[in-house]
Amino acid sequence: MQDVLARGDVKDEVLAEGGKLRIEWADTSMPVLSAIRERFERERPLEGFTIGACLHVTTETANLARTLKAGGADVYLCASNPLSTQDDVAAALSTEYDIPTYAIKGEDNATYYRHISAVLDHKPNITMDDGCDLVSMLHKDRPDLLPNIIGGTEETTTGVIRLRSMELDKALRYPVIAVNEADTKHLFDNRYGTGQSTIDGLIRATNVLVAGKRMVVAGYGWCGRGVATRARGLGAHVIVTEIDPTRAIEAVMDGFEVMPMLEAARIADILITVTGNVNVLDAETLRSLKDGAIVANSGHFNDEIDIAALRSMSETSRRVREFVEEFVVDGKRVYLLADGRLLNLSAAEGHPAAVMDMSFADQSLCVEYLVQNHAKLEPQVYRVPEAIDKDVARLKLASMGLKIDSLTEQQKEYMRSWQSGT
Ligand code: ADE
Repeated sequence: MQDVLARGDVKDEVLAEGGKLRIEWADTSMPVLSAIRERFERERPLEGFTIGACLHVTTETANLARTLKAGGADVYLCASNPLSTQDDVAAALSTEYDIPTYAIKGEDNATYYRHISAVLDHKPNITMDDGCDLVSMLHKDRPDLLPNIIGGTEETTTGVIRLRSMELDKALRYPVIAVNEADTKHLFDNRYGTGQSTIDGLIRATNVLVAGKRMVVAGYGWCGRGVATRARGLGAHVIVTEIDPTRAIEAVMDGFEVMPMLEAARIADILITVTGNVNVLDAETLRSLKDGAIVANSGHFNDEIDIAALRSMSETSRRVREFVEEFVVDGKRVYLLADGRLLNLSAAEGHPAAVMDMSFADQSLCVEYLVQNHAKLEPQVYRVPEAIDKDVARLKLASMGLKIDSLTEQQKEYMRSWQSGT
């Protein structure tokens, strides 16, 4: 048992061969990360460091883990969500790439936390988190391990919000770089990645026709914008709900209808939450849905829909497809997708490799930055250094075969001067 746990905990090692093929396929769309991996292989900048990573275990994450390992790090990986793991990838990582992985799709909450704990048992020097569960467990339950840590990175909006709360409470004990806030991350991954993969999850889970449906998108952050825009592209009539007045105006001027959730819920065919907040579809909203409404979430945690309320108010429930549970409430059918967990990673494969290329290039370069600069950093949440963000953008453009202009000397001077006007 000890031996097995040292190598990871995956569903079935037999799946490894197929997983390896899919990892290699994703790699063909990740040229920036591949270039970093080749440099890391030559320079070994992470030699001697142990990285504990809590990420969605996907083909794209596998290529990130390979990159960190190529840089000389020992890498241990667990899932950042119980339902997002790709079991073939977890098997390939553990057996083909020598990256012990603790992740099984559909694991219960106890196993999920046991897997995070197993990664911490390897005494990481650097944490790489997606949602802050690893960092939270480390600070709450394993503070003895904190002196080993030089820094961490965080992948997602929800995780950055939790880290900022820790910083405010003076609870955060080491520097963490908010990778989510790099332009090359959220402008692409959150918008185009979540946008496309959420619709992909909806279609794989249900096979519904999107055209002509009234689709409510709750939240108009970068993820919400992506989902709303892609749904419109497929012919849905999209309604946005917001609590932020500026974002609401933006949604209106982007051509979407905006209204309060209770009004939207009464007419919606499909409702998707992407707010990062709790009980966005509460008991009253769920009761007001029309017969046959489909509800799903693409935010990080499964608490945007009050599933406990849905269960307790429903007369019956049954699973009608792999990711579809039917509830009957006051005689009306409500369909919950993927247990309210992030739809794009539960019922589909998450964001496509071409956008994760930039997010994970940022991750790799931020880890290298931590190794080189940790002595100068405080226990705070840091932005991604602009030089890294721009480098990733330049590399991505070059990989797309695109060139852009640069400022002339005269234009640089013009930007510096405040005297010249009309
Ligand atoms: N988050 C969203 N999509 C992802 C993917 N494909 N891999 C890892 N993390 C993700």
